[in-house]
Amino acid sequence: MSSCRVNPFLLLISLFLQTVSGCLVVREKDPNPNIQNCNCNVKLFNQEDIRNNEGGRYLGDLQVWDPIVESKQDCWLAITCKPVPGVSSFFTVMFRSNGPPIYINRVVSNQSTFVEQPRSIGNLKCNEHNGEHQWFFHDALIQDFSLACVADSYSCDCPRILSDGRTGFESRNPSVTNQCDFFKGTCMQNTEIPFLHTTNTNPVNSGAGAGALGSEFDDLRCVKTGDEFSWYFANLKLQDVSMHCGTNTAVFGEETYLTCGVFQVINKLEDLKWYHQVGAYSTAQVGISSWTPAFEFEITCEDGFKPVVFSENNPPIEIPDSVPTIKCTYNPMANYLMVWIANGIRLITPAGACMKL
Ligand SMILES: *[C@@H]1O[C@H](CO)[C@@H](O)[C@H](O)[C@H]1NC(C)=O
Repeated sequence: MSSCRVNPFLLLISLFLQTVSGCLVVREKDPNPNIQNCNCNVKLFNQEDIRNNEGGRYLGDLQVWDPIVESKQDCWLAITCKPVPGVSSFFTVMFRSNGPPIYINRVVSNQSTFVEQPRSIGNLKCNEHNGEHQWFFHDALIQDFSLACVADSYSCDCPRILSDGRTGFESRNPSVTNQCDFFKGTCMQNTEIPFLHTTNTNPVNSGAGAGALGSEFDDLRCVKTGDEFSWYFANLKLQDVSMHCGTNTAVFGEETYLTCGVFQVINKLEDLKWYHQVGAYSTAQVGISSWTPAFEFEITCEDGFKPVVFSENNPPIEIPDSVPTIKCTYNPMANYLMVWIANGIRLITPAGACMKL
């Protein structure tokens, strides 16, 4: 190595710049995302990107930073959000341009609430589509797939959630004292489940089902918008939140064996609730529905009518022929919670109908 006599000063500079010289080989930092031979794009969103994202804009005032994204084979993503100075509670969030965000992981006080990171997204695939590679979530095309770590720093700034007197609050980790949404709701009767009652939505079901163990509300977060702090359940904004124990029969007038909660069937225009009555569908013709909600089902309609899914947190979704199946499936954040999904979109208090415009 006699040819490699380097001026120590230059060596220092070289080390500092982490460049590769003939004698000193310093490994370049891995790129991020490092998805190797996966052909689908992964973008990392910054705060500006979130503010410009139609479905994710409500998170635009929260602190955002990059997750570490790796893929070893078959586009199986391994996603890690690390704590940043001053923020020990946060979410890993998937954004897209054709729908609201999907929450992938939750960390409270530096601890993942479900399994340890890195996290992967179940039911996510990179498929060829019209000559390009595209991401699909539950078989639905995800446009402009993007990821970000988003802080959950304001949970104690939202109004306190009150109990109806029969509903218990149990901390999920008593050593966590700076997170006001990290609780279980419990009901004395184990046929009942805790619902979040609000003044602007139907009662919200956590997706945890009934039982003595109580319900965890991993989708509940306090979001800051300007000077305002508001509770959200996933992307649904809630006003004046309190917790009440009840049954689906008492709340929605129908029983359901599905942990996801009710999926109502709309047979006539009068069945449409106030939050369904948007756009052209509020006056459309309603066809005969002969389908029944199940863990996986399709809405089949008579000729001339199209399946449409209404929900409290989205505009009406026309169910495409390419992705007809509606599912009650695992919440990507934690599989002790269940969610309704149609066309890759999470639904809160859904209802389905056959409609003709
Ligand atoms: C979380 O981790 C960060 C970085 O490792 C550390 O600075 C912070 O003190 C931790 N916070 C808690 C609440 O443990």
